[in-house]
Amino acid sequence: MPITRRDLFRAAGATAGVTLLSGCAARAGAPAVAASEAFVVPPFAAPTAEKPLKLCFNENLLGMSPKAKKAAMQAVAEAASYYPFAEAEKMRAACARFMKAKPENIMLSHGSAESIRASIEAYITPDAALFVPELTYSDGEDTARKNGLKVVKVPMGPNWSIDIDAMRKAAAAHKGRAIVYFVNPNNPTSTIADSEKLLAWIRSRPRNTFFVIDEAYAEYVTDPAYVSCKTLVDAGYDNLCVLKTFSKIFAMAGLRLGFAYAAPEVIKTIRKQVAYDVMINVVAIRAGLAEIDDKQFLETSLNENTKARNVLHATLDELGIEYLKGQTNFAFMNLKAPLKPFVDRMAARHILVGRPFPPAVEWCRVSLGTAADMQYFCEALREFRKNGWV
Ligand SMILES: Cc1ncc(COP(=O)(O)O)c(C=O)c1O
Repeated sequence: MPITRRDLFRAAGATAGVTLLSGCAARAGAPAVAASEAFVVPPFAAPTAEKPLKLCFNENLLGMSPKAKKAAMQAVAEAASYYPFAEAEKMRAACARFMKAKPENIMLSHGSAESIRASIEAYITPDAALFVPELTYSDGEDTARKNGLKVVKVPMGPNWSIDIDAMRKAAAAHKGRAIVYFVNPNNPTSTIADSEKLLAWIRSRPRNTFFVIDEAYAEYVTDPAYVSCKTLVDAGYDNLCVLKTFSKIFAMAGLRLGFAYAAPEVIKTIRKQVAYDVMINVVAIRAGLAEIDDKQFLETSLNENTKARNVLHATLDELGIEYLKGQTNFAFMNLKAPLKPFVDRMAARHILVGRPFPPAVEWCRVSLGTAADMQYFCEALREFRKNGWV
């Protein structure tokens, strides 16, 4: 087999990583990142037209940790001129540690968007179809459509839950390969699936089915009933991959880093669909390395998100507005009215909220900021109630 440029970079990364890295740092003479820098929740600032309160894209409004910011700046100064294959291997190893697994279980990607595309494309056959719940994140379906793949949308269960029995039945009835794109917790509903049912389905190893499990929001879950599908990869199952992102709790949506976690053979198959998983932006890698083991940052982000969620849920209860018991950094609430006037009125207060998610056309997705951000949003909601708008 010919040796490709990619093989060379990977081999070089695996063997020479540490030497190369320290060599670059020594030339730049940059100071090391202080390990003692603690992450604190940023103070509230009332939104303005220039700096609106962005409750619309499920980003982490707390921002990156100071350590990660510093690491990113240092990366520009000392590493941006060099190919990042050695750093990418470090990142892969760090992701493996995070998952309590081995580097061969990991494929790095530019955000999880690239992993979603690659993992679906890797399993396309002429007879394949993609199975998705009717109300979910659109990247799976978009990938299928770009590839001319048939999409089967399975109707939702009660309260916009994912109807796993119906999905299982639909996939089993398909004559060719079934690729299942399953987001858990789901977006835009924010709710978790029935873990027992989902895991039992994957464990049953349906002969025709490959599972792409998107766990972009798993780090925000506080409900002990949630079981990550990671446990199945840990147990050696090779009929799934689990996708993770640095765009959510890690607050790096603009830097673009994610990864796929799967059995080594699955990772090899998925890797064929990306140009270079060893060529990830070095600024993202350095920031990711600073954050992935930073328990204090992750705990502070999680605690603040839980506080913010409680603030919003309490106000929705007070106002009698229906919502789903979400487990992520966003909430899904029932306006029982067209979405657009609500979105426009919030925008007039410099608060940006969700977009239409058919078929839940009267529901609004609201991302969570800090607890203080949500107090501000809740004040607007109370004012809307006084005006008879909600
Ligand atoms: C369920 C889900 N998966 C993946 C993504 C894409 O994230 P990334 O920034 O990692 O590409 C999002 C973004 O909102 C999402 O909601």
